[in-house]
Amino acid sequence: MSSNSAIRVEHVRKVYDGHGKSFPVFEDVSFEVKKGEFLAVVGPTGCGKTTLINLVAGLDRPQAGNIYVDGVNITKLPEDVVSKLRRRKLGVVFQVSNLIPSLTVYENLELPLVFLGMSRDERRRRVEEVLESFWISNYVHRKVATLSVGENRMVSYARAMISDPEILLLDEPTDFLDPLTEDMMVASFKGKILKGKTLLATTHRRKMAKLADRVINLKKKLP
Ligand SMILES: Nc1ncnc2c1ncn2[C@@H]1O[C@H](COP(=O)(O)OP(=O)(O)OP(=O)(O)O)[C@@H](O)[C@H]1O
Ligand SMILES: [Mg+2]
Repeated sequence: MSSNSAIRVEHVRKVYDGHGKSFPVFEDVSFEVKKGEFLAVVGPTGCGKTTLINLVAGLDRPQAGNIYVDGVNITKLPEDVVSKLRRRKLGVVFQVSNLIPSLTVYENLELPLVFLGMSRDERRRRVEEVLESFWISNYVHRKVATLSVGENRMVSYARAMISDPEILLLDEPTDFLDPLTEDMMVASFKGKILKGKTLLATTHRRKMAKLADRVINLKKKLP
């Protein structure tokens, strides 16, 4: 594998099991995202976009195949090692928010930095910097539970960026945003904030797919 590979998905098979039945999502998916590249994944509802993001984030495991993140085969690593690698290298914006509703925006953004062992002053500087970059400094002391769905999405995006990860995984990141905020987020993908970063983003939106360096189309598997 070349050293400029950020993500490599190799012959991945994913099947969900439940109630004695198996639900195949994909049989054999392969693709690569080079460092600094922006790859969009499109496809109809239920084709496996979120499943793919979870697999690349190491939150779920495939039945077959290999997934490499920055050259490391995450399918072969124990869970705690995958978590560490995720904390260091990946930022994830989930389709369904994973922010902690009872905490403030500041506290949600600060938490990953606590795990990284940053001092309180460094954490404050970093949180303020990221909030400013995403035009959401005015939410800083709000409880996440009180945010609108679109506001929550912007905070999730800021949180994914908080540890300055090399790779961003974005699952329908512009859902729930008004057209202006959507434009600002999409523009940021090619802007200074994300310069040099690798992006893997699922989307239903043409605007975003247009901006990507490449687009792959996942087909829905018929039952
Ligand atoms: N835990 C699970 N158990 C069984 N089936 C599941 C599970 N999670 C997802 N699926 C099924 O796997 C398929 C892929 O789901 P996934 O959430 O990846 O789709 P998606 O492409 O992200 O859809 P959307 O565009 O609606 O977000 C769907 O048919 C879904 O019902
Ligand atoms: Mg999805």
